[in-house]
Amino acid sequence: MLAASAKPGGLKKVLGPTDLILLGIGAIVGTGIFVLTGTGAVTAGPALTISFIVAAMACCFAALCYAEFASTVPVAGSIYTYSYATLGEFVAWMIGWDLLLEYGLATSTVAVGWSGYFQSLMSGFGLVLPDALTAAPGARPGVDTLFNLPAFLIMIALTAMLSLGMRESARVNNVMVIIKTGVVLLFIAVGVGHVRPENWEPFMPYGMGGVMSAAALVFFAFIGFDAVTSAAEEVKNPKRDLPIGIIGSLVVCTILYVVVAAIMTGIVPHLDFKGVDHPVSLALQVAGENWVAGFVDLAAILGMSTVILVMAYGQTRILFAMSRDGLLPSKLSTVHPKYGTPFFATWLVGIIFGLIAAVVPLNVLAELVNIGTLAAFTLVSIAVIVLRKKRPDLPRAFRCPGVPVIPGLAIVFCLVLMSFLSWHTWLAFAIWLAIGAAVYFGYARQRSLLNKPQ
Ligand code: ALA
Repeated sequence: MLAASAKPGGLKKVLGPTDLILLGIGAIVGTGIFVLTGTGAVTAGPALTISFIVAAMACCFAALCYAEFASTVPVAGSIYTYSYATLGEFVAWMIGWDLLLEYGLATSTVAVGWSGYFQSLMSGFGLVLPDALTAAPGARPGVDTLFNLPAFLIMIALTAMLSLGMRESARVNNVMVIIKTGVVLLFIAVGVGHVRPENWEPFMPYGMGGVMSAAALVFFAFIGFDAVTSAAEEVKNPKRDLPIGIIGSLVVCTILYVVVAAIMTGIVPHLDFKGVDHPVSLALQVAGENWVAGFVDLAAILGMSTVILVMAYGQTRILFAMSRDGLLPSKLSTVHPKYGTPFFATWLVGIIFGLIAAVVPLNVLAELVNIGTLAAFTLVSIAVIVLRKKRPDLPRAFRCPGVPVIPGLAIVFCLVLMSFLSWHTWLAFAIWLAIGAAVYFGYARQRSLLNKPQ
């Protein structure tokens, strides 16, 4: 998660390394592991395990840069806030615009993932929706799907909670972490006995190309580790604890993901995951473990709900910051007198991204989120190198080790992963950035409140 609301100093320094690792896992484990592993397996074969390691390495290098950037300016906030202070308005605007897409579509993506598991759970009770209402048009080859109703409804329900001021608390996060990791461990414990090693042959049926394409997709499974950096100000000893928190949560998740991918592709021949939107529980069903499959469905539903909540919260706070700075209409930063939330902005994005969740297939959404995030990480890594040269004087609670090698590796990994995303994704991203630049020069620049001579 990239953001927290920008608050001036004074936050209590209470968090230690374990809290940070839990915070990271809470924000990370979601659709990536529960859903995208299916398409990942079809793309890479059993070598999906290697795809997860490649994606994790990109995240690890980028995360160290991110942590330095996040701890350079002494306010809590999203990288939009940091870049405004250090890189100027236009760069900040483009990053903010990029993040709006990333967060918004991430909520839609996870909502679609949620829907797959919800439907799987309901079908266990004999409740089945008409095909037309189960998924976006074209999402399931050979089935006439039209509108993903459960994905839309979960977005509306969570928007309602968010608009009334409900926030994920640390306690809820910890419970979720236990539920999510517990069920993943349960899957591993039960699934391992059903693995048939012959399903791992050939291990890499589509070569390195397949492995890298799958890595570019399952990169989504790691998004969220940045939640750790947004807590920089509340950490007791950021120099030591931030890298432990970031790398620790990435290592834990990578191990879980690699083992899950190995077991899934060991139980079910990888091609059987084609078009499946609840691959983890499907593997258990194939293994005849229907009860455990039901548990996985339930835990996935709960876990993904919190990921949506965290992402949607982040997005409304970026909108809020951009609007407060005058770059977006002021209506977006009005606060509800009773609930104390950006009510209008919350509902606006909830409805828009709920509709998107209903009509766009999951893989298309996930790729768009990935390109936006990878671009933001690339910019942040460049910014770390530039700022070390230009502003060596700035206080940095955390310093990325090995500058410029680590930021350089982050840039290379991110760009390589981006190069494996489809051309539609690149085109859509370019259009989004072009609209962003047009809105900036046509609207935001003139109205910026910070850019005016005092
Ligand atoms: N990493 C988060 C997920 O997989 C976004 O749902």
